[in-house]
Amino acid sequence: MIMETNSSQVLVEANRLAKQYPVAQGWFKPPASLYAVDGVSFRLAAGRTLAVVGESGCGKSTLARLVAMLEPPSSGDLKIDNIQIDQASRSDLKRIRPMVQMVFQNPYASLNPRKKVAAILDEPLAINTKLNKFERKETGLAMLAKVGLQAEHYSRYPHMFSGGQRQRIAIARALMLDPKLIVADEAVSALDVSIQAQVLNLFMDLQESNGLAYLFISHNLAVVEHIADEVMVMYLGKIVEQAAKRHVFDEPLHPYTKALLASMPRLTAKFPQKRSMLHEELPSPLNPPPGCPFSNRCPHKKDACSAAKPALQDFQGRWVACSRIAEIA
Ligand SMILES: Nc1ncnc2c1ncn2[C@@H]1O[C@H](COP(=O)(O)OP(=O)(O)OP(=O)(O)O)[C@@H](O)[C@H]1O
Ligand SMILES: [Mg+2]
Repeated sequence: MIMETNSSQVLVEANRLAKQYPVAQGWFKPPASLYAVDGVSFRLAAGRTLAVVGESGCGKSTLARLVAMLEPPSSGDLKIDNIQIDQASRSDLKRIRPMVQMVFQNPYASLNPRKKVAAILDEPLAINTKLNKFERKETGLAMLAKVGLQAEHYSRYPHMFSGGQRQRIAIARALMLDPKLIVADEAVSALDVSIQAQVLNLFMDLQESNGLAYLFISHNLAVVEHIADEVMVMYLGKIVEQAAKRHVFDEPLHPYTKALLASMPRLTAKFPQKRSMLHEELPSPLNPPPGCPFSNRCPHKKDACSAAKPALQDFQGRWVACSRIAEIA
């Protein structure tokens, strides 16, 4: 749902993506079903950054896994580089898969401790390219330099690095096949603030030099404000608002976006900061409220809000899912 994107530049197109998980309910009850992602549609253009924000459990990581093709959706479809993934031929998939790489939160867990950096960087090339050993080493060393590490680091093991350096190695690995999209799921959340800034700047430099797009997931709004072009706000598996970063941060429209911004510390807050506007508990995704999923916490709730699920609609150039938006904006 990027308004200004012309279709030839669209790298990712998600249409009504949904992911349902069965959840055990105890011995005598049949498993219930939980929608971790529930009808999410968006477009991401080449070279742009779409950030996904929302409280814990709103479906950010699930969406990340769907877009990274690590899991199939339960319904809906995903197009990457104009190829519909569930109908793609083997050769299309072989071309598309390396285009999308993921960087996770915890570089301690995502790097194999038994492999040297050399092997970690060599592996994607050995599997996916015809480069010989020497060419692969050269490419690996060049990539290390690109992410700000030294040649001597090439023959070390992950445990010999700091958290920030490990995340650089994970980023280098993700870049080995020259991807078009990095799905970054809380990729800087575990790092110290100063290291966070370095890694974010690296992400942005790489965007400029390699034309990378990011699906950038973070619960940290200060980080999102720094890096995003567009922001998608999720609530219980659904998009409640999506718009250009400036719109979301300077003039949020959906009551949930307002509450989220008001409850999170930011450097350049134009919106009043309150401790929390989210008084009621987040409902269980197993048992969402009828109609608007935010209705039980919304200060603008009317009876009609419980009657029907609000569609995501274009309102003043943003996408907002609130049936009262024209009255409350
Ligand atoms: N494999 C799974 N099986 C069952 N339920 C799952 C599974 N993965 C996620 N869920 C549920 O789906 C919902 C969304 O989870 P998800 O991890 O995508 O949220 P998130 O926004 O990434 O949260 P966080 O900010 O804590 O990382 C949660 O209710 C979670 O419990
Ligand atoms: Mg997550």
